[in-house]
Amino acid sequence: MTDTTQTTTSYYERHIFFCLNERKNGEDCCAHHNAQEGFDLCKQLVKEAGLSGPGQVRVNKAGCLDRCAAGPVAVVYPEAVWYTFVDAQDIEEIVESHLKNGKVVERLLTPAHLGR
Ligand code: FES
Repeated sequence: MTDTTQTTTSYYERHIFFCLNERKNGEDCCAHHNAQEGFDLCKQLVKEAGLSGPGQVRVNKAGCLDRCAAGPVAVVYPEAVWYTFVDAQDIEEIVESHLKNGKVVERLLTPAHLGR
């Protein structure tokens, strides 16, 4: 029987998932818009800032997040904030503002209507 008196705590304070999906059939996908470079840079910056690890931030790869029309996309939990990034400056701002200081980067928010 599960002990319901035990409280749960989040292992990570924040998770950021990058879609790295690649389609080989010619259809558009995040991999065709430098998603891997964004992921690699984010991972590097989070590590350099001392933000990675339990109680802090985890940077993860993801498959298609079904918002391809807005790609490349990344989503931050637990806030469920979606970003569309273009270059290194965007990734730097997401790390510094959101992942480090908890402040959403409004200018990079994925338009709500964009899905697949
Ligand atoms: S290919 Fe990235 S969200 Fe679908």
